Amino acid sequence: MPDTITITDDRTGKTVTVPIEGGVFPASAVRELDPSLFVYDPAYMQTASCKSAITYLDGGNGILRYSGYPIEQLAEHSTYLEVAYLLLHGELPTADQLDTWTHDVTHHTFIHENMRKRFVDGFHYDAHPMGLFISAVAALGTFYDGAKDIDDEHQRHRQILRLIAKTPTIAAMSYRFSQGLPFNYPDNDLTYAANFLNMMWKIGPDYTVDPVLAKAMDILFILHADHEQNCGTTAMRVVGSSHADPYSAAAAAAAALYGPLHGGANEAVVRMLSEIGSIENVPAFIESVKAGEGRLMGFGHRVYKNYDPRATIIKQTAYDVFEVTGKNPLLDIALALEEVALSDSYFIDRKLYPNVDFYSGLIYQAMGFPVEMFTVLFAIPRTAGWLAHWQELLNDPAQRISRPRQWYDGPGERDYVALEQR
Ligand code: CMC
Repeated sequence: MPDTITITDDRTGKTVTVPIEGGVFPASAVRELDPSLFVYDPAYMQTASCKSAITYLDGGNGILRYSGYPIEQLAEHSTYLEVAYLLLHGELPTADQLDTWTHDVTHHTFIHENMRKRFVDGFHYDAHPMGLFISAVAALGTFYDGAKDIDDEHQRHRQILRLIAKTPTIAAMSYRFSQGLPFNYPDNDLTYAANFLNMMWKIGPDYTVDPVLAKAMDILFILHADHEQNCGTTAMRVVGSSHADPYSAAAAAAAALYGPLHGGANEAVVRMLSEIGSIENVPAFIESVKAGEGRLMGFGHRVYKNYDPRATIIKQTAYDVFEVTGKNPLLDIALALEEVALSDSYFIDRKLYPNVDFYSGLIYQAMGFPVEMFTVLFAIPRTAGWLAHWQELLNDPAQRISRPRQWYDGPGERDYVALEQR
C-alpha cells in the first residue's frame, strides 16, 4: 500500500500526490492544487501545526511519554527538575548535568523586590491568584535586559532558568498576598517542590514540609509538565512565533490555561463535587449532564478517548496524600460519579473518561490549597513544557510567524451609510 495521498480538485481536474509520513501529509499539497484554496479546520481538529520531539501522546490507547519515557516511569522514578531538563534537552541529564541544572534553577528563585512591593501590592486584595500570576509572569520580563535577545542562546537559557525557578515564587506570593500573609522568601536548601510548599505555608519557625506531600507535589508537577499542542502550549507557540520575549509568551500561555475548559477544570471539578453534595445526588446529576444541562467536569478530552494515564497516577497519589491529610470528603462523591459515568452509554459512546483534572483538585484541596490556586498549580510545572516548545519553535527552520487563514463569511462590499440614515 503506497504511503501517499492523491487529492483531485474536481473544478479543474488537477491532481496532486504527496507522501503521508507518520500519519500526516503536508498542507502544501493544497497550495500546489490552488494557492487560493484553504482547509477549514476550526479548533485545529485535524491540523498538525508543528513537528515536535518533546511529548508523544496516543489518546486512543491512553499513552503519554516525554522524549520516549513513559509518564508512569517518570512519575515513579524521576523528579520534576529532571523532567524539566528532559523536556528542554531531549535526554535525561547525567549526574553532573543534573547537579548543575538543579543548582542553576535553585539560584534563580528570588524575584526583584519591586515585583512584590510595588507590582503585587497594586492588586486588589481579593484578586484571583491566576490573574495575578499571568500579570506577574509578563511583568517579570521587564526586569531583564536580555529577555528580548531570543536569538542569543545564552540569554535564552538564562530566561528559561529564571522562568522555571521563579514561577513557584510568584505562585506562592500571589497566594500569600490574597491571604494578607507576609511573603516567605525562597529557601534554596529545599527541593523545588518542598521550597514551593514552604513558601506557601510557613508561618512560624517550626514549620517543616511533610516529605509525603512534597513527593506528591513533585509527582503532580511531573504529570503536568507537558502535554504537547494543547491550548496553552499553542498560545505559547503562536505568541513566540512573533519573536516576543518568553515572559510575554508564557503569560499568554498561562492566560489560555486559565479557562475552565483547560487548566481551570480542576477548580470546576471541586465546585461541581461540592454542589452535588452527597452520593445520593450523583444519579440525578448524571441525568442532568445527559440532558445537556452542564458538563461532567474532569471528564472528556480532545485527544484522550481512553482513561487519561495521568488520572490513574493522580488517583493513586491521592491515597498517599490522604494518609497524611485525612480523606477529602469529596472523594466518595468523585468515585461514585466515576463509577456511574463509566458504565453509562452516554459517556461510553462518546469515549468520555476521567482526565487529569478529575482527581488533582481533591489532592490540592486536601493539602490546603484554595480552589483559586488550582490553575496556578498547573501553570508552575507547565512552564517547563511551554519553554521546551518555545525553544523547539525557535530552532525549527520550518516555523514562521503564526498566521492562519480565515473563511470570510461576512457581507459583500456595500456603501457606508451616514449616521442619520441608519
Ligand atoms: N460532560 C458531558 N458531555 C461531554 C463532556 C463532559 N465533560 N465532554 C464532552 N462531552 C460531550 C459533548 O457534549 C459532545 O456530545 P454531542 O456529540 O452529543 O454533542 C461530545 O461529548 C464531544 O464533545 P466536544 O465538546 O466536541 O469535545 P471536545 O474535544 O471539543 O472537548 C473538552 C474536550 C475537554 C473541552 C470537553 O470534554 C470538556 O468540556 N470537558 C470538561 C472540562 C474538562 O474537564 N476539561 C479538562 C481537560 S484536560 C486538562 C487540559 O488539557 O487542560
